[in-house]
Amino acid sequence: MSSIARFGVSLDKGLLEKFDKLIESKSYTNRSEAFRDLIRQELVKKEWFDANEVIGAVTLIYDHHKRELVNTLLDIQHEFGSCIISSQHIHIDHNNCLEILAVKGSPEKVQRLSESLKAVKGVKHSTLSMSTTGRGIE
Ligand code: NI
Repeated sequence: MSSIARFGVSLDKGLLEKFDKLIESKSYTNRSEAFRDLIRQELVKKEWFDANEVIGAVTLIYDHHKRELVNTLLDIQHEFGSCIISSQHIHIDHNNCLEILAVKGSPEKVQRLSESLKAVKGVKHSTLSMSTTGRGIE
């Protein structure tokens, strides 16, 4: 287990008040835990741009009645098949589908995949969740 280091942070009072409101809305019990999460988040982001290989998840919401859209999404997924390790399709309601892709690969390729899918006309919402194996950000 790593040892704990303490340090002080100087902040503008107004900024601290906003931070306290933010962490309260996110149910953090104290500032330290919120601050640790922010640091981890930034380290994961950095890892995403520096690493050779990253992991993450792409989510897509679309109307499956648009047949051409479904074919286009499938074509893109086949094109990027080497970085999709798993996919799940959920029929949300009569019109909408949710697709979740677990992705792994070079940061450039994974981001290109995510952007290609997001850019398809008719995709209502899409996110790329950047995650990591956790090495280096304990
Ligand atoms: Ni569906």
